Amino acid sequence: MSVACIIPAAGRGERLGGATPKALRQISGKTLLEHSVRAMIAAREVTSVVIAAPQESVSQVEDILSQIAADVPISVVVGGQSRTDSVRNAARAIPSAEIVLVHDAARPFVPAEVVSRVISAVRAGAPAVVPAIPVTDTIKHVDAAGRVVHTVERDELRAAQTPQGFTKTALDQALADHQTQATDEAGLLEELGVPVLVVAGHSESMKVTRPLDLVVAEAILRRRQSDRMM
Ligand code: CTP
Ligand code: MG
Repeated sequence: MSVACIIPAAGRGERLGGATPKALRQISGKTLLEHSVRAMIAAREVTSVVIAAPQESVSQVEDILSQIAADVPISVVVGGQSRTDSVRNAARAIPSAEIVLVHDAARPFVPAEVVSRVISAVRAGAPAVVPAIPVTDTIKHVDAAGRVVHTVERDELRAAQTPQGFTKTALDQALADHQTQATDEAGLLEELGVPVLVVAGHSESMKVTRPLDLVVAEAILRRRQSDRMM
C-alpha cells in the first residue's frame, strides 16, 4: 500500500515569534522543514511527500527540497489560513495513495519507529491513528475567572503527536466539510464518530512551539550527533 505524507508548514509561528515563518527557522544550520522531511523519508515506507508552504516562501521551500537527495517525489503547494486549510490544499495534490500521513513541519525529530508504528496500525485496519505520550504535568480544568473546576485524571490523558495516519477514505471524510477546523485531523474524525487508535509516540518527537523549544531541539540534535560518534 502506498503511503503519502502531507507536511503542513504554512503557519506563521506566532508563539515562537520572529519574522521568519516557523518552518524556515533553523536548528543547527538546517530548517525545521528540512529536518522534518528527512525524518519522514527516513521511514522507508513513505512513497511521496506534499508540503503546504507559506505563499511567499514557496520558492525558498523548493530550494531547500532540492538539497535533499530523496528517492520519492516531493512537491509543494501554497498553504491556507488555518492548518486544516493547509492540509486540505495538500490533500488535493497527493498522488494516489491508500494511506496518508499528516506530519507537522514543527516536529523535526520524529523517530522512524514511530512513523512505522502509525503506518502498521493503519495497514492492520485502523482508519485513523495518532501517536501519543503520557502527560507528565497535573492538568487543571479552569473556568474563565481562573478558578479550578477540577483536576483531570492524569492516567487517562495523552499528548497527541504526529504523524497521524489515515486511510485515504478517512482523511477525505475528515476534510469534506469545508467549515470545520481542528488542531489535528484526528479531531475532525472524532467529531464524526470515526474510531481513532492511539499508538506509542516518542518524547523526542516534540513540537517546536515556543522559544524554549528551540533550545530543547538543539540539545536533542547534539545528543544524537554525539551518540553517532560513539
Ligand atoms: N500550519 C499550516 N498552516 C497554517 C497553520 C499551521 O500549515 N495556516 C502548520 C504549521 O506550519 C506547523 C503545524 O501546522 O507545522 C502545527 O501548527 P503550529 O505548531 O500551531 O504552528 P503555527 O501555527 O505556525 O504556530 P502558532 O500557532 O504559534 O502561530
Ligand atoms: Mg498554530
